[in-house]
Amino acid sequence: MAIDKLRANISVSDEEFDSIFPEEVREFSNRHYTSVYISQRAAVFLAEHAHTQILDIGSGTGKFCLVGASCTNAHFTGVEYRKNQNQIAQMCADRFALANVSFIYSNILDINFEQFDAFYIFNPFLENIDQSAQMDQLIDSKNSDYVIFRQYVHDQLEKKKIGTRIVSYYTGSGQIPDSYALKKSSFGGTLHFWEKAN
Ligand SMILES: C[S@@+](CC[C@H](N)C(=O)[O-])C[C@H]1O[C@@H](n2cnc3c(N)ncnc32)[C@H](O)[C@@H]1O
Repeated sequence: MAIDKLRANISVSDEEFDSIFPEEVREFSNRHYTSVYISQRAAVFLAEHAHTQILDIGSGTGKFCLVGASCTNAHFTGVEYRKNQNQIAQMCADRFALANVSFIYSNILDINFEQFDAFYIFNPFLENIDQSAQMDQLIDSKNSDYVIFRQYVHDQLEKKKIGTRIVSYYTGSGQIPDSYALKKSSFGGTLHFWEKAN
């Protein structure tokens, strides 16, 4: 199975990995979920230590967290606004007995970033400003919500200590506070690796 292969450091295609998800959500994978390869790169940068607590801001069906928890020893938490996607993520974690991953059904506005050491952000609020990105009718295209969510995440990240790491994917640099230094950039400038400098 895909998770066992990742644990054994064997490469897995996205098609194979996505087969752990129910068919009705697999169609979202290409546009909305991070690929296995990029998830691995991001997870390795964020997982500095076995006790590192990593938060995925808008985790969907948990692809990034599930891959990260399979290929590192750090702990991954995904927070997701959609109940059905959160349930799928939790089912996968249970099915593959992944002890270093948790999923929370919540709005990001109710999450305090204090308990986390590192963060992954894949453009979670796009659906609020781009109707063509909507997976269903749950999230209204509302510019005011977009501004509130982004500001909340920005302010929480600003409060973190020097050395805090973030990986952002297809996410405008305006989401990341100026106090974070860009350490590297890859995949044609879509994947950014940050560390808090001051
Ligand atoms: C682009 S997907 C990324 C999924 C996952 N991080 C990955 O890389 O595979 C963004 C997710 O953010 C969720 N989301 C949007 N607004 C949110 C909010 N305010 N609080 C929590 N999750 C939210 C969406 O439901 C969607 O599943």
